Amino acid sequence: MKHSHSNAMSMSRRFFLKSSSALAALSFIPNSLKAFYQDVREKLFVKKQMIPIQLEINKKPYSLTIDSRATLLDVLREELNLTGSKKGCDHGQCGACTVHINGERTLSCLTLAVMAQGKAITTIEGLADGDNLHPMQEAFLENDGFQCGYCTSGQIMSAVACVDEGHTGSVEEIKEYMSGNLCRCGAYNGITKAIQQVSK
Ligand code: FES
Ligand code: FES
Repeated sequence: MKHSHSNAMSMSRRFFLKSSSALAALSFIPNSLKAFYQDVREKLFVKKQMIPIQLEINKKPYSLTIDSRATLLDVLREELNLTGSKKGCDHGQCGACTVHINGERTLSCLTLAVMAQGKAITTIEGLADGDNLHPMQEAFLENDGFQCGYCTSGQIMSAVACVDEGHTGSVEEIKEYMSGNLCRCGAYNGITKAIQQVSK
């Protein structure tokens, strides 16, 4: 018992010594360097600024005031309640947030909303024609292209673009051009079959 107490004492003493030398080192940073870091911080961390923007989403115009730093994904989900586009990684790595901008698949988590002004944005909510599902949505249903469904809207948006781009020559080609869309349930076979069905 006594032994572990003295161990703890010596550990906290070592920690104290390390921390204080780190703090002491900081105090020796010259003022010019501190000013430089301050400058970089201010340039990197853009301050919040509310701005008015107009967006055209699923053929409907929207006027709203947003933080100039907001991503299209956050504006869709949080400002406009268009929650079909999902936030998976928020870092451009899973494809769950895929939308079309001017007909091209785009990761909305990596797109600033202000940059999407004047462009035609299509989300999964705008893919169906009224009550008629888009052929790709039908094909996903028929081929078991989803399980939990979390990745599905992004997969469908990419799948539609994959067909439009003509990247459906073989299963390998489809897999390559769909590789930016990850599915944690592993519904890849159904997704590939759905794309083959629509591309025929
Ligand atoms: S949420 Fe955009 S790529 Fe993952
Ligand atoms: S169906 Fe569950 S993550 Fe793809």
